[in-house]
Amino acid sequence: MTKILFPEGFTWGAATAAYQIEGAYQEDGRGLSIWDTFSRIPGKVINADNGDVACDSYHRYPEDIALMKELGIKAYRFSMAWPRIFPQGTGEVNLKGLEYYHSFVDMLLENGIEPVCTLYHWDLPQALQDQGGWTNRSTIDAFNGYCGTVFREFQGKIKQWYTVNEPWCASFLSEYYGEHAPGNKDLQTALDVAHHLLVAHGRAVRTFRELGMKGQIGYAPNVTWMEPYSTRQEDIDACRRQTGWFLEWFMDPVFKGEYPAFLVEWFKKAGAELHIEDGDMELISEPIDILGINYYNGTVARHDAEGGLMQIRTLDMGYEHTDIGWPIYPQGFYTVLSRIHELYGDIPIYITENGACYNDEPVDGVVADQKRIDFIHKHLIQLERSIASGIPVKGYYSWSLMDNFEWAFGYTMRFGLIHVDYKTLARTKKDSFYWYQDTIQRNGIEI
Ligand code: FCB
Repeated sequence: MTKILFPEGFTWGAATAAYQIEGAYQEDGRGLSIWDTFSRIPGKVINADNGDVACDSYHRYPEDIALMKELGIKAYRFSMAWPRIFPQGTGEVNLKGLEYYHSFVDMLLENGIEPVCTLYHWDLPQALQDQGGWTNRSTIDAFNGYCGTVFREFQGKIKQWYTVNEPWCASFLSEYYGEHAPGNKDLQTALDVAHHLLVAHGRAVRTFRELGMKGQIGYAPNVTWMEPYSTRQEDIDACRRQTGWFLEWFMDPVFKGEYPAFLVEWFKKAGAELHIEDGDMELISEPIDILGINYYNGTVARHDAEGGLMQIRTLDMGYEHTDIGWPIYPQGFYTVLSRIHELYGDIPIYITENGACYNDEPVDGVVADQKRIDFIHKHLIQLERSIASGIPVKGYYSWSLMDNFEWAFGYTMRFGLIHVDYKTLARTKKDSFYWYQDTIQRNGIEI
């Protein structure tokens, strides 16, 4: 047995997002979001599930906070629902929405849990989508208005902020593959949306500075790692494209003020072009304080001319898969963090999401999710390996605190440390909850 200890003061946390847990979709003046609309389109979400009730955390947050306290997390990453604060996206602020988040944040603070806020975790107000959503640059202004309001309101209470969660998903998955709201299937649209999301991010960072906010701000891109199957140049290039689509595409603009040329070229060949306006790149590259990284999977892949936009095919190398079908690839976690460090230097990194889908159900009040424990254990080893190698990783948020609405998969895929019975809304602590509690207490693991 070898003890693997994390640095003193390492932030152990857990994460969720508003639409996935809150429910109460029509309460206290909340406006509709694109997920309310999308989930009602037949065939878009498994079992036609939606977030109307979700985990009902909007009402049950005292119980959830008590569970967080028992778990021992030092920080909780949640997202604010933009349509609770600006039901129409812009215009009149809904005070009840602000009051709700005040009560919630106050209770976190009273319990010694640091509130960490994501400003955009995909629930765009439908009223803005009706005017083109993220394809329309006025949505950038609306986002900036919402962020400014929330910054002023929560100044001093919330000290860590992430603007946009997973811009790849909010653009390419949502507007090119059409798997997430709003469901467009057009590469040019997706490229425009991706760019606008980055501009919106940068604009919010600038506002944060202009307001003289104390605290730290960043964003939370999701990354993967594609390991070339062979040393053939075409395999190396295909993996570079696929990995870079998540990584350099969304990080070069922020850290270097420019898009990666090899992908600009590739998109051009596919018929899509960047539409950059004056001042955009300066905004996007406003310096940030922290970088959130979401990592779930990676694998081995090779070039395939028939392999979609990036001409790549992943290979089944016999890795195990979680219940959602994602290959378990912990070594990619270390590799991709090393790559980020090599490309962008010593920016403090928080792992804003990592976790596994296993659909174990309670038996006599016990949820024996050993596979989730193994998954987290393997990823924490790679994480400590990264820290030991000089990568400044400051914290880790387990996705997720509790089972929740897993977007297009509805309620069929469970990622929580806490089981939620969607009929009774009862919470049951899983074995992984107790294991993570122990890990936090010991500030480390054994291998
Ligand atoms: C990420 C999302 C998060 C959750 C996990 C499983 O892509 O940010 O909301 O759905 O995947």
